[in-house]
Amino acid sequence: MGARAHVSALRIKSSAEGRLVDCFLRRLLVLAAPCYVANATPVIVARVLKRTHPMDWERRFIDGRRILGDGKSVEGFFSGIASGTAVGLALSYVSALSVGEAFTLSLGAMLGDALGSFVKRRLGLERGDPAPLLDQLSFLLVALLMYQLTYGGLDAFVVATLVAVTPLIHLLTNRLAYKLGLKDKPW
Ligand code: CTP
Ligand code: MG
Repeated sequence: MGARAHVSALRIKSSAEGRLVDCFLRRLLVLAAPCYVANATPVIVARVLKRTHPMDWERRFIDGRRILGDGKSVEGFFSGIASGTAVGLALSYVSALSVGEAFTLSLGAMLGDALGSFVKRRLGLERGDPAPLLDQLSFLLVALLMYQLTYGGLDAFVVATLVAVTPLIHLLTNRLAYKLGLKDKPW
């Protein structure tokens, strides 16, 4: 191969790789955005409303402990779904995600977050106690699972990257929320 042909072959290769990275990052952000926004909204809503209604209506499970606890409110649950879906509405204008997809991710995120609390209560952990990985990943994993069951086509590498980076992002944003006075605990 001549030098010029070699250079242009390299250019094509690097532009193809660039497109692949571009596509990968876009997919990552588009999937993460509704989940992250849905998960962050209840913290703000609960702080603004001051008084909220627990999703478990203060009922106890067969082990005598609260089903979910006071940290999971009806207002937080529905506001999370609404805000995550609104992100999807915005993204649908650039054809990045449909409203239905964003709704599925947001609903999954809120159900996953509640499932995390359910598991924490069964382990005897009080509201707000730290549960490493469960606190950071339950919302994401259930959101992605519900997305996969409804729409399919999730790329394993995208999922693995999201699972790898989310705990760190979650810890950093929670610390920020704590510093801003939105959260009582920095985790
Ligand atoms: N929140 C809410 N409704 C939800 C989820 C969260 O009102 N469905 C609010 C609560 O005020 C909660 C805060 O957001 O205290 C932080 O959320 P999170 O860390 O998920 O709850 P924890 O208080 O840590 O409770 P748990 O131990 O059950 O996770
Ligand atoms: Mg917490």
